Amino acid sequence: MNFEIQKRALSSVIRDELDALIVLWPSKDDALVSGQDPIAVLLQAALRHGDFEHKPGAVLSLYAHPGVKARHLVIACVAEGTVVQVRSAVNAAWTALKSSRIKRIGLHSAADLSPQVLQTLVASLADASYSYTSTLSKPKPRTLKQVVVSAHTVTAGLREALAHAQALVAGVEVAKEWANRPANHSTPTMLADAAKSIAKAASFKCEVMGPKEVAKLGMGAFLAVAKGAAEPLRFIVMRYNGAATGQPPVVLVGKGITFDTGGISIKPAAEMDEMKYDMCGAASVLGVFKALGELKPAINVVGLIPATENMPDGLAVKPGDVVTSMSGQTIEILNTDAEGRLVLCDALTYAERFKPEAVIDIATLTGACVIALGGVRSGLFSSDDSLAQALQLAGDASGDACWRMPLDDDYADGLKSRYADVANVAGRQAGSVTAAKFLQRFASRYPWAHLDIAGTAWKSGAAKGATGRPVGLLLHYLLARANEKAVKTTSPRSTSTRRS
Ligand code: BES
Ligand code: MN
Ligand code: ZN
Repeated sequence: MNFEIQKRALSSVIRDELDALIVLWPSKDDALVSGQDPIAVLLQAALRHGDFEHKPGAVLSLYAHPGVKARHLVIACVAEGTVVQVRSAVNAAWTALKSSRIKRIGLHSAADLSPQVLQTLVASLADASYSYTSTLSKPKPRTLKQVVVSAHTVTAGLREALAHAQALVAGVEVAKEWANRPANHSTPTMLADAAKSIAKAASFKCEVMGPKEVAKLGMGAFLAVAKGAAEPLRFIVMRYNGAATGQPPVVLVGKGITFDTGGISIKPAAEMDEMKYDMCGAASVLGVFKALGELKPAINVVGLIPATENMPDGLAVKPGDVVTSMSGQTIEILNTDAEGRLVLCDALTYAERFKPEAVIDIATLTGACVIALGGVRSGLFSSDDSLAQALQLAGDASGDACWRMPLDDDYADGLKSRYADVANVAGRQAGSVTAAKFLQRFASRYPWAHLDIAGTAWKSGAAKGATGRPVGLLLHYLLARANEKAVKTTSPRSTSTRRS
């Protein structure tokens, strides 16, 4: 899918040869509505008859309208133009069109575009027109090939935002693809191959370890989860170096459970298929690296993915087993279904060797987080206020929001064990917080944040499918970090420091 942006007046866009033209109309703009062009005239009539309202998501859909060359014309209200309103306008417009074969679409904004709104337009149109094809014998691939965004003014900032948005879409679609694939089409080995090919295409490094190397590292917790699986585990290490070699990287750690049966503490059968999505954290890391490869920002990023299935088996780890993690801490595995924290804790210890400026783990970690926050915001846990704030801001700005949750030490009480340094589960209360408290024990050597994406990474029911979250949040955070650093190294203060 190709996106471009043009500086155009609506009176000229209506003469374009398009399958569809979507005009995004702001809430109340008398100057715009009182015009004499064909769209203003029809809007006046629709408003007069009460057939169109200035409400976010309201659409007016027409076919072969005289005076407009595009076959379909959809006018959609974006109200005040917030991220959420723009997304719902684009979704409503696409719903009006989606049964038609739309290849080339025009997207005209009647109001001035901000970089943030442009990103939202592009991301939501890509999201709405996405189609999964991999395991279908007669797939219906996306028909949409070209999107021409237009507005009265087009700044350099908007062109940059379009490039970011396009890389974001590529990253989100990598994440969706791997997350949507069934577990027999996305094994740990296949995930590792995907990581390698993303790295190769953008010429950065990717190392893949197997059971032997992971045993040598002493990752007893990760190994315990993999014990019941016939598919061999993989530990994936990706390294994107966009800045000087000495600059401390941001490390992203993605939970890569390619299927979570629960192990011996087996899950109920209903909806167990959705546990193929238990590698959405890993998929989001792959997606971020895809986007980094396209944008090449000046920042260093390491991606770590511990990947395995969680299966019941004669060799599987049993409730009550005690294992030794890479950190040296012993863990009593009281519930084999709390496996995410076990693979993550060893990856968090491994992250220390990069002397990172921050480590962010991303995981479909707890059903409790789904209960707490639903599908709107991911759970954010952090031991570092400025990291937490940066992630929260990145989430709001990218329309991929998160919400900070507490980490009081009292929440760790239930993790006490008689037979090991720590147990892998506490009681039923505050399950997403106790899971984070477990992880925090392994993340004391650097600023750390944990994103619980169990509620946001995929949708259940009729619209079942991966969302590609939180690629948007993470990419926004990383690009903002790269920008901040660029500003710092060119500011007069740092120049004088260098001179002295
Ligand atoms: N992958 C699941 C978490 C999950 C469950 C995400 C349902 C989305 C929907 C995780 O491995 C898990 O099973 N967690 C347990 C932890 C419990 C045993 C303490 C849970 O949430 O039930
Ligand atoms: Mn589990
Ligand atoms: Zn899991």
